Amino acid sequence: MAEGVSGAVEFCNLAASPLVDSLKNVYAVDIKRTSHRLRNPGNRADAQERAVIDDYLKLLENQNMPASKVVVSNDIVRYYAPIMMMENCIKCHGIQGKDIVTSDYEVIKRLYPSDEAIDFKVGELRGIWSLTFDR
Ligand code: HEC
Repeated sequence: MAEGVSGAVEFCNLAASPLVDSLKNVYAVDIKRTSHRLRNPGNRADAQERAVIDDYLKLLENQNMPASKVVVSNDIVRYYAPIMMMENCIKCHGIQGKDIVTSDYEVIKRLYPSDEAIDFKVGELRGIWSLTFDR
């Protein structure tokens, strides 16, 4: 990451994503990513999201792949999908000093002092997508 992690931060920042912007313009949808181990504390899971994450973790523990799911309630519909760790994620969410270049991690830590989103391995659950639609 020769350009430094500033470009990298953009890379994984949903607010800066034109796709998310255009989706939000077309549908009345709230789009969020959350995790059991957060980098940005602003992405914290609510109770239902946390329950979905725990379900997904349990499935994986038993060698089952988690699948997307829809939860319908009176006035909203919530859609969830697993976000899995892939090879191209480890340079920012893997093991510091091995997958993550130490100087890059210093930048991440400066921007996200309470970062917990490291030490993930490929194939693990990194987090979930959480979309909320008005009915
Ligand atoms: C170049 C660095 C970089 C790479 C590569 C990267 N991320 Fe991130 N990731 C970040 C940063 C920085 C944030 C915090 C963004 C924010 O402020 O919302 C983040 C946040 C996240 C979040 C939101 C939850 C949280 O912890 O705040 C998820 C989920 C996530 N990343 C998954 C992935 C996945 C899956 C990949 C691989 C496909 C990946 N990331 C690759 C840097 C990276």
